[in-house]
Amino acid sequence: MPDAPPRSHHPLSVAVAGLGTVGTGVLTLLRENADIVAAHAGRPIAVTAVSARDRSRDRGIPLTGLRWYDDPVALAADPGVDAIVEVIGGADGPARALIEAALAAKKPVVTANKALLAVHGAALAAVAEKQGVPLAFEAAVAGGIPVIKALREGLAGNRISRVTGILNGTCNYILTVMRERGREFSEVLAEAQKLGYAEADPAFDVDGIDAAHKLAILAALAFGRPVDFGAVHVEGIRHVSALDIAFAGELGYRIKLLGIARRTEAGIEARVHPCMVPHSAPIARVDGVFNAVVAEGDFVGRVMLEGRGAGAGPTASAVIADLIDLARGRYTPVWGAASDRLSHEPSVPMAAHVGAYYLRLMVVDRPGVIADVTAVLRDLGVSLESMLQRGRSPGEAVPVVLVTHETGEAAMREALRRIAALDAVLEDPALIRIEPA
Ligand SMILES: NC(=O)c1ccc[n+]([C@@H]2O[C@H](COP(=O)([O-])OP(=O)(O)OC[C@H]3O[C@@H](n4cnc5c(N)ncnc54)[C@H](OP(=O)(O)O)[C@@H]3O)[C@@H](O)[C@H]2O)c1
Repeated sequence: MPDAPPRSHHPLSVAVAGLGTVGTGVLTLLRENADIVAAHAGRPIAVTAVSARDRSRDRGIPLTGLRWYDDPVALAADPGVDAIVEVIGGADGPARALIEAALAAKKPVVTANKALLAVHGAALAAVAEKQGVPLAFEAAVAGGIPVIKALREGLAGNRISRVTGILNGTCNYILTVMRERGREFSEVLAEAQKLGYAEADPAFDVDGIDAAHKLAILAALAFGRPVDFGAVHVEGIRHVSALDIAFAGELGYRIKLLGIARRTEAGIEARVHPCMVPHSAPIARVDGVFNAVVAEGDFVGRVMLEGRGAGAGPTASAVIADLIDLARGRYTPVWGAASDRLSHEPSVPMAAHVGAYYLRLMVVDRPGVIADVTAVLRDLGVSLESMLQRGRSPGEAVPVVLVTHETGEAAMREALRRIAALDAVLEDPALIRIEPA
């Protein structure tokens, strides 16, 4: 555990590894808001050393007077550095090597790296605890939204039953534009890439992996157990179509990519996938690049936080909050409780999920087809809440929408397989889970 600051005027000397979007944001915030930061921290916070790959690159911020390192890992050995900010990124490589070196040297670490925490967070937390060194990561989930502190400290007196989040701004932006303009996924993705809202390689975002990293972290905090990325069920948004978004609207829903961690009787369920949420639900109205997290606790009830999940300013805001905690000597165990107090509740596999489903088929419009489809559902014990069939064009393909009552995922998967195999069913059916408000 770090001691209280030795002298109130002794600055906290910080090394920043990575001078990209987040790193330059951190330097800019510390420069522009130095007075506010020093007041809250009880002493100045000063960056004294930095590392990035290319020393000659103009980053639009002054770096004179700062010690430069080509090798970020060397920052941990700099005797003039009190704390390390890791904003390089990547689950392995230099980011991981630097954090391990810093913890070994008993230097506190602040990171924005969700990939690394989701994959190696359990082991890193064990090292941090053994070394008695803080490992802080407010910026790793939902950028500027202070959701780590909210779950770990603000709601610490509650038993949390469920955490739901819009955790990826790129996906939320794409789904919002698809809905507003009736456009298809691939067109909107290409446009988002041009505007800089989506990466050149969008897989981490649109395939749900980034959201799953963040959900794994939130689930660990909410349920007081070591982070377990492998237990998260992950689906992205590539298969969401404009047609399904339009049908969702008719049925009173919006389609969102949600991360959901929930306590069930069998254990903890953690999943990321497109969901239909009632359009009256507050989270359904979080649009564009915004993120949101809803937590439900037994005493507090429902809490929702909304804000910007990415960008230099919001992410720097979160990094600086962690640095202020360090400067003050405030310390909280990585997953909210000491390792011997963490829970080992089992994870529940997706096959055991129970919920309502939206199913959309393209079928040949001819007598008997609907009877064949409903026979499959009946055989598997899936009961229907409603059915929607638009237009008639005998012999042609028409969409048919089915909404089920609560159904087991395993039965639904089997029904989908059998329905897809029917002659009159033309394309792969679309399946979207429906979440209660
Ligand atoms: N961007 C956001 O809005 C956001 C939000 C929340 C969390 N995060 C997380 O914050 C981290 C950083 O993201 P970012 O968007 O700032 O990334 P970025 O713009 O790509 O910046 C990465 C920085 O790391 C440096 N770097 C890469 N490899 C290095 C190496 N081997 N040695 C030294 N420096 C190296 C790069 O140096 P050069 O500049 O010389 O190439 C660059 O300055 C990631 O973990 C990300 O997931 C980002």
